[in-house]
This record gives sequence, C-alpha cells and structure tokens, in this order.
Amino acid sequence: MARIIPIATDTDRAEAIAAATDVLLRHRPVAIPTETVYGLAADATHPAAITSIYETKGRPHFNPLICHMADLAMAERYAVFDPISRKLAEAFWPGPLTLVLPLKENCGIHPLATAGLETVGIRVPVGFTAELIGSLGRPLAAPSANSSGRISPTTAHHVEADLGEKIEVIVDGGPCPVGVESTIVKVEDGEIRLLRPGGIEAEAIEAVTGKTVIRPKASGTAAIEAPGMLASHYAPNASVRLNATEVSSAEALIAFGSDDISGASTATAVFNLSPDGDLAEAASNLFDFLKRADASGAAGIAVAPIPDEGLGEAINDRLMRAAAPRGTEG
Ligand code: TXA
Ligand code: MG
Repeated sequence: MARIIPIATDTDRAEAIAAATDVLLRHRPVAIPTETVYGLAADATHPAAITSIYETKGRPHFNPLICHMADLAMAERYAVFDPISRKLAEAFWPGPLTLVLPLKENCGIHPLATAGLETVGIRVPVGFTAELIGSLGRPLAAPSANSSGRISPTTAHHVEADLGEKIEVIVDGGPCPVGVESTIVKVEDGEIRLLRPGGIEAEAIEAVTGKTVIRPKASGTAAIEAPGMLASHYAPNASVRLNATEVSSAEALIAFGSDDISGASTATAVFNLSPDGDLAEAASNLFDFLKRADASGAAGIAVAPIPDEGLGEAINDRLMRAAAPRGTEG
C-alpha cells in the first residue's frame, strides 16, 4: 500500500523529498502533485524507470512523455530553444505550459521518454515537484498518475484509489489548483501550433507573443495531434452526453453557471462546475466531478454547455474525450 506523505510543513517537505528520492533512485515511479494533475514520475534518463511508469499505468504502448525540469536553466541543458519558445518559457514557467522542442544530442534523456522522437516535451511545474527535481538533479518524466484510459487524478486520494496498491509513495500536495493538464505547443518556422489545449489559455499565449496560435482543427473539435493522445482517454464508466439542456432521472448532471436545466431536480446527482460561470473554477472541479458523477451510479452523465473560450477550450477537449466512443484511438 502506498505511503501518503503530506507537504504542509517544512519537515513534511523534507521527509517527502527524501522518501521520493529514495524511490526514484531505485528507478521506481512516485506520485507527485503538480498544479495541473498528479503525475506518475520517474527518472527521465533511465530506461527501467520509464518502463516502470508504463507498467504501473498499464499503458499498452509507449507514447512520448513530458519531461519536467526544475527551471529554465535546467531545461536548456536538454533542449534547443528558439526565441519564441524562450519567451513563452519566461512568461509561463513555472506553470501549465509544455513546449515541444528539439532534443539536444546526447543530453541524457532516454529515448523511451521521448518515444524515439527528435523532440521533447518539457515543462517546469509549480512548487514541490520543481523542488524535488532540483534536489534530484535529473528531469522527471511524468504522465498523469492514473491507470491507462481513466480520468486524471487531481487529489492524492484519487491516486490512492487507482494506483495505491502498485506504488510506494504518493506525495500529497492537496487538490491541484488548475485541474486540467498543461497546454502543449510547438513552435515551427516561427508559428505557434497548439497540440493540446490545457491550463494556459491560448489567448494568453497570443497576448505574450503577438502571434495567432494555430489550432489543430476548427475550435471545439476533439483534435488529436500530439502523438499518443487517445480519443477516449478520460473515460468514466457512465456514458457522457455533452451540451445538455435537459437531464433525465437516470442521469447525473454536471452543470455550469446559473442557467436552469430542466429535470435537474430529479437527476441522480447534480454537480455545478462553477455556479458563477468561472472557467478556472470549472477546470479545477472537472475531473473530481466526473469521477463523482460516475460513482453516483447514474447510467449517464449529462453535461451542460461550457463556453469554448479561454480555459473552456481545455475543458471541452477533455469532455469530448470523455464522451468519445470507447476504444477509439485517434
Ligand atoms: O499537466 C500535464 O501536462 C501533466 C502533468 C503530470 O505534468 N502531464 C501530462 O502528461 O499530461 P501526459 O503523458 O499525459 O501527456 C503527454 C503528451 C503526450 O501524449 C503527447 O501528446 C505530448 O504530451 N508530447 C510529449 N512529447 C511530445 C513530443 N515530443 N511531440 C509531440 N507531443 C508530445
Ligand atoms: Mg493522462
């Protein structure tokens, strides 16, 4: 059974760093808190460590993983930054932005972490995990800390319920404040391409660079551009129905804002992502509410319309994956 270590005090943090480091140096994975979702982290330079992530998640094949760094200086040892990418790193790190960049030759990141690509996805997370990486002195590869195909975890309890029997240590940093995974972008020929909408709004990237972010497809469609993004990737057991304006008594409702949804009073359960219509609050509640709606025993989950702007792009992307037919690979 995993040991859950809090990081509320300096003593706790030192204890968590020591325990996590011990596991990481044995090439085993550790669950770590980030501002987006909990990650299942292992040494990005060691093949057995990376393999252990896939085994623990039960992921059928190798996808490129995001390599987490302590800071920009550390990231520059592993990847080549063009001026736009550097500007984005300076503006948004630490934070929920992943940059796909050319890998430096012989930098030490193992090809299993990048699925053999000549590029690497890099980000600097907020808080404890950056501290842990700084202390370890090596990048950590980390996908979300959930079994393959399940909803990403945003609390230590979510991780424990799913992977508690398979891992040794879960560092408990409390609920993840952002609640959806990082935004992934790649700069190519001076253009910024959005590979995955996430915790940094595309509009914020445009404001910093003065450039239009190129969306994978028309906004609002489930675009699968980054390798390894499965269509039905965030799948609850219940079927998910989007843009619902009414709900049946066999369904749980995930609402947004103050609009009345007809049938809400007889729904199996009702959750409101943000009664005030705040997209940041909605993102932070999304995965927990999907899990709770699923656990309510409802046959289906009806989700009210969410505006497709700002963080709404990431929320709608994850909802479309949750609603996609099961077993679909994109
Ligand atoms: O917020 C997050 O990004 C979380 C936390 C733990 O940091 N991590 C996360 O990792 O979501 P993961 O493994 O679920 O997502 C990694 C995705 C891959 O599926 C792939 O789409 C993209 O990042 N990716 C990674 N390296 C890439 C590369 N070299 N080229 C294109 N896409 C890449
Ligand atoms: Mg994931």
